[in-house]
Amino acid sequence: MFLGLDLGTSGLRALLVSDAGVPIASESEGYDVSHPRAGWSEQDPAHWVKALDAAVARLRALHPGEMAAVRGIGVSGHMHGAVLLDAQGAVIRPCILWNDTRSHAEARGLDAAPGVRDLSGNIVFPGFTAPKLLWVAKHEPEAFARVAKVLLPATFLNHHLTGDFFADMSDSAGTSWLDTGARGWSDDLLAAGGMRADQMPRLVEGSEVGGTLRPALASAWGMSSQVIVVGGAGDNAAAACGVGAMRDGQGFVSLGTSGVLLTGRDGYAPLPASAVHTFCHAVPGQWYQMGVILAATDSLNWLSRVTGTRPADLARELGAQISGPQSLRFLPYLSGERTPHNDSKIRGAFLNLGVEHDRKAMTQAVMEGVSFALRDCAEAIGQTGAQLGGLLAIGGGAASDFWVETIATVLGLPLDLPEAGDFGAALGAARLAMVGAGEGTVDQVMTRPAVARTIAPRAELVAAYQDAYEAYRASYPAIKTLG
Ligand code: XUL
Repeated sequence: MFLGLDLGTSGLRALLVSDAGVPIASESEGYDVSHPRAGWSEQDPAHWVKALDAAVARLRALHPGEMAAVRGIGVSGHMHGAVLLDAQGAVIRPCILWNDTRSHAEARGLDAAPGVRDLSGNIVFPGFTAPKLLWVAKHEPEAFARVAKVLLPATFLNHHLTGDFFADMSDSAGTSWLDTGARGWSDDLLAAGGMRADQMPRLVEGSEVGGTLRPALASAWGMSSQVIVVGGAGDNAAAACGVGAMRDGQGFVSLGTSGVLLTGRDGYAPLPASAVHTFCHAVPGQWYQMGVILAATDSLNWLSRVTGTRPADLARELGAQISGPQSLRFLPYLSGERTPHNDSKIRGAFLNLGVEHDRKAMTQAVMEGVSFALRDCAEAIGQTGAQLGGLLAIGGGAASDFWVETIATVLGLPLDLPEAGDFGAALGAARLAMVGAGEGTVDQVMTRPAVARTIAPRAELVAAYQDAYEAYRASYPAIKTLG
């Protein structure tokens, strides 16, 4: 048995997985994000530990035999957060989260410093870890002076589980302190960020054993003293492990609150200028690249609120099949945009709005706008030399065939819909523990879910959507000059 822990932004999920890699049971426990000021986003790591204890206690009560048979644990965590520990191992201040934007000035400065993008392979976004520490140094110098270790959220849990300080490559690549190509802390990047190597945890691969479960936890949880804890992963890499998106030609489109287009990569080919994320994968010798759009189902949820119609009902009004793009155009920049524009100030728009347009036309425009934004991500990833293919469509928005068919036609690629099941970040984390415990190789363990259906591009409509995409693409520079 293996345990996958997914430390998410709104809660922690513990998933019990059999030796054959089959999910058996899961329990979740929520916690809050605090926003002490506009743009700030923090969490108390003690709440993660409390949620972990509650979720594990419930799993143990329901499945005592299986929990006693756990041999390995893997942790997935929301990325980029900074947990600061003092020399005694105490948490100095609340964790500053991935979606906290207070350090935008520090991020801009670090991003412009010579060599930083080259070594880290990425733009330094305000949410990344290094600018957060520059912010703390400037605004909370007493706290900064006490920092003995900086841990990502998953690394903090690894430390809680084992007493050791170890972080995996995929999560560490989101700090702007890692030489992402060389898979090691970079002295130059640490110096640029005002940090020292001894403040960093030891690096391991996500599927490598980092430590063993502390005896006190093993006995409290009814587990043996031999339970291994692997490096784990950042949540996107863990999700990729959960659906077998490890190599070139294996990836997914995720229609969640935000939208993600992710592909595994056999080599390292960064392209920071187009706001593509290039991170180490959670297994040795692999990387992954992804484009992120900030409002995917969030755009539909917004339309749902203003029309007073549930998102599923909006989607139902469109039916299952597309019949071509319309002139009404939606730019989904409701919260700014990451890939490819890296523009936190831009906002959304409807263009060509006419008296003939009704709710249904607006829903179609929203789905088309999000699809075009994902095409922007595909273009940006394509510029790195990646050949996109083998894409699964996952996330809440994938319940709409209309939307998935729009994306397939706009990308010119078939999209596979997986059979219902469990294949999130918690499964990916459990799979990393399986590999670490010698249960199988990466290829044997990180398999793709069974495909229920494939939605192919509508060949006769590809040219029309190509024209519409070009019009969409020309809209961003135009609206940027307004505002
Ligand atoms: C990735 C990112 C998010 C967080 C939270 O760059 O910021 O995916 O990991 O989920």
